[in-house]
Amino acid sequence: MSRTLGVLISGRGSNLQAILDAIERGDLDARIGVVISNVSGAAGLARAEKASVPTAVLSHQDYGSREAFDEALLERLDESEVDLVCLAGFMRILSPVLVRAFPNRILNIHPSLLPAFTGLHAQRQAVAHGVKLSGCTVHLVDEELDHGPIVLQSAVHVDDQDDEDTLAARILEQEHALYPKAIQLVLDGRVVIEGRRARIS
Ligand code: GAR
Repeated sequence: MSRTLGVLISGRGSNLQAILDAIERGDLDARIGVVISNVSGAAGLARAEKASVPTAVLSHQDYGSREAFDEALLERLDESEVDLVCLAGFMRILSPVLVRAFPNRILNIHPSLLPAFTGLHAQRQAVAHGVKLSGCTVHLVDEELDHGPIVLQSAVHVDDQDDEDTLAARILEQEHALYPKAIQLVLDGRVVIEGRRARIS
């Protein structure tokens, strides 16, 4: 029986689209139970609606604390009986409330080769630092920012001519291929956690 994903977004939702497309093609054996955005009018919401996936908007501004917001997210995820949470451009830091409710069952995609360039504007940081290689990382979420066990990474050459936007566009192409693969590995139980490492069995 295919498992249920909850996808959390804040904006464009191109990674959400990549997940929807992989499901549609039969490359990812899952269904999306709910797409939740913390930003009303996020473009990704329209993508979900077009695919007949239920959506919800929960604005963090309506809650008095990070924990209260995460309790509300948790309630909505539970309502849809979500097995695995996928952060897809979700620009909020999760509190332990959510992380502990889904131990090793929250994935994030980040546009750098972690542990380099955590936080916001990872591609800008990579260009500014002058690295020759960057890329993207899918990792399990723990209680530290952009930190948990790494499931898959994909590398991208950084050219001298690159600016933040050109690099972000090339990394994004890799993100779209990488995220559905990582999700399938987790759903298949092939990601074995050993300390801070995730081994693919
Ligand atoms: C993606 O590049 C994703 O890796 C990044 O935001 C973008 C969302 O694009 N996420 C982070 O920076 C998280 N720290 P999308 O909305 O088109 O999927």
